[in-house]
Amino acid sequence: SETYPDIKRDSRFSPLTKEHVAYFRGILGSDSAVIDGVTNESAADDIEPFNSDWMGKYRGQCKLVLKPGSTEEVSKILKYCNDNLLAVVPQGGNTGLVGGSVPVFDEIVINLSRMNQIVEFDEVSGALVVGAGCILEVADQFLASKGYIFPLDLGAKGSCQIGGNLSTNAGGLRLLRYGSLHGSTLGIEAVLADGTIVDDLCKLRKNNTGYDLKQLFIGAEGTIGIITKASIQCPQRSAAQNVAFFGLESFEKVQQAFREAKGQLSEILSAFELMDESSQALVGEVTKNRRPLEGKYPFYCLIETSGSNADHDSEKLGAFLEDVMEKGIVSDGTLAQDETQIKALWAWREGIAEALGHLGGVYKYDVSIPLQEMYQLVEDTKARVDAAGLLGDTDEYPVREVIGYGHMGDANLHLNVSTRRFDKRVEQCLEPFIYEWIEKRQGSISAEHGLGLQKKNYIGYSRNATTIGLMKGLKTHFDPKGILNPYKYI
Ligand code: FAD
Ligand code: MLT
Ligand code: ZN
Repeated sequence: SETYPDIKRDSRFSPLTKEHVAYFRGILGSDSAVIDGVTNESAADDIEPFNSDWMGKYRGQCKLVLKPGSTEEVSKILKYCNDNLLAVVPQGGNTGLVGGSVPVFDEIVINLSRMNQIVEFDEVSGALVVGAGCILEVADQFLASKGYIFPLDLGAKGSCQIGGNLSTNAGGLRLLRYGSLHGSTLGIEAVLADGTIVDDLCKLRKNNTGYDLKQLFIGAEGTIGIITKASIQCPQRSAAQNVAFFGLESFEKVQQAFREAKGQLSEILSAFELMDESSQALVGEVTKNRRPLEGKYPFYCLIETSGSNADHDSEKLGAFLEDVMEKGIVSDGTLAQDETQIKALWAWREGIAEALGHLGGVYKYDVSIPLQEMYQLVEDTKARVDAAGLLGDTDEYPVREVIGYGHMGDANLHLNVSTRRFDKRVEQCLEPFIYEWIEKRQGSISAEHGLGLQKKNYIGYSRNATTIGLMKGLKTHFDPKGILNPYKYI
């Protein structure tokens, strides 16, 4: 776990007292809605999960967790915090990967999990209104029963919440098909730092009456308000889904396969994901499952199609695979024959993040780079870590492996440095080297995970001074006292 020797607690913020706790208890009523480690030391164990992030990399010292059950309760909490200079961290499923969802010091955690209602669904338009605390998979299962799909899917779907997804502008596995949440969010209800409720919960596709304010909350990581409800445009669920998994000899061939897939599968292509051999070896090591292909290849791709006609789609995917194998682009491949095989193939991609977590600490870099150079970053990083004497097979070396995978269809690479333990020498070797590398290629240092605490000091590698100045102005406008998710973002 990291401590924060370089960050000072902002002395403007008041320390929590039993009077504060009594006020919150008065608002929230129910005992389970307040986890109080201020007046009750034995609550420390219950608070622990809200203080530590999913990777076990970031840890706060929060002593109070509040779980409001309505927008009005969120409003009352924030108004009181703003008036009394109490800092807060909005928290959803706590699956964020940049240290944004946990406190740095003693900020109060406002956890949205009780606000998990499916409020309404229009079966004709596909507009879904949900509470921010609704778990993504729950929303998607509800939609499945109506013949619709949530326009976002990701490995953490069983824990992450819609409010957290919007706040990180999560990208996920099918952005290629359904676009980003900036496009599919119709409306938002949010509470500002001073308790003001912003009702912008539009359920229509078109609304050009003035600035599109809801967009500011998408990707704001809880720094300008707390999202309490959202209205999402959901597409029709495809009747047929097919998945192919194949091995390739070079990254050049991966790019060729991507071009062919777009050309040959066009309207039914719904995902094009990339995995390198190290990532797959690692999933195999942790799960002990049999690898999908007999041979080993430096790269693997997973292609998914979603269409309306199963026979037509599998014929098209089969023909595609045959064609790219004949042309020597793909070396070997397999097609899932049923739902179980589809899930099993996806597990080799979706399971990478979790497998990494089983092996020790991970330094994660989620970046966008022009496609041609995407994998070069993994090779350059590996060479650098190796040259620094940090990479090796035995325990004396902190780094086990440098791996690459990601959303090829969105030019989004996940560079992961898997370690036996978190080690400052590794971090110093990687940063700012990786950010400089990205800057030289006009890439983005945060493609989909956000800035949080991890990238706060590096935003300048992907944004210019004017843009950062405007962001700071917005932050000050929405949250003049800076109580919302302090020490992070910008
Ligand atoms: P949290 O982690 O709780 O919070 C994330 C941020 O949003 C924090 O800054 C928090 O303060 C803020 N926040 C949370 N809720 C609210 C709210 N209601 N109002 C205002 N601010 C709020 N991300 C991708 O983009 N693509 C992926 O494919 C992907 N896959 C993942 C796979 C795994 C296994 C894991 C663990 C994570 C993955 N992520 C991915 C990271 C991703 O950011 C999240 O999983 C998800 O979007 C976060 O939702 P959450 O509810 O857990 O939010
Ligand atoms: C993914 O695509 O698997 C997620 O973004 C999580 C990760 O980067 O590990
Ligand atoms: Zn991802």
